[in-house]
Amino acid sequence: MKFFHKNIVVESCDGVYFPREDSEMFADFLDGIDIKGKHALDIGCGTGLLSVIMGKKGAHVVATDINARAVRCALKNARENNVKVNAVLTDVFDSLGSFDIIIFNSPYLPPGKENDVMWTNERSIEKFFMEFRKHLNKNGRAYILVSSLTRIQVGGKIVSTSKLDFEELKIVELTGI
Ligand SMILES: C[S@@+](CC[C@H](N)C(=O)[O-])C[C@H]1O[C@@H](n2cnc3c(N)ncnc32)[C@H](O)[C@@H]1O
Repeated sequence: MKFFHKNIVVESCDGVYFPREDSEMFADFLDGIDIKGKHALDIGCGTGLLSVIMGKKGAHVVATDINARAVRCALKNARENNVKVNAVLTDVFDSLGSFDIIIFNSPYLPPGKENDVMWTNERSIEKFFMEFRKHLNKNGRAYILVSSLTRIQVGGKIVSTSKLDFEELKIVELTGI
């Protein structure tokens, strides 16, 4: 299966989150911000769609995921889109340095029948909030996408929203201050 965003095409990989409305919303948001020359981190990269977008926009990108198949998938999709992306298997920020832009299209669903970390990992969201300040460069920005279904209360400046049938998605901007 292929997912298209403007001139970017990413292919699905077995056992890896395939881009959906949330990914598309984040992709549209990234289209509108200036990240040329910035050091960018894509946490939970999945197929690498958002990493590829940031790479095409001139950012130096590190893509990460806790799922080894996603790390391999992101590298493959970056190569096929002629974008340089470094990819690391890790748990949120573990072993990583600091960045100008950090994005996380999080596994935001509450625990339920589907407990795959693709969809649900509250611990990763908590870890993100505990650690993001240490990994932001001066004047850096972090962006996390969550849903009205997410049980963890998320503060910050809402920079994008999207209403779906059963939930509302939002992207929240955070600074190091
Ligand atoms: C909603 S998907 C987003 C995938 C992709 N960024 C996109 O927008 O299509 C969430 C991703 O977070 C990853 N993930 C879950 N827990 C994680 C953790 N602790 N550290 C890093 N990535 C994690 C999942 O494996 C999954 O690829």
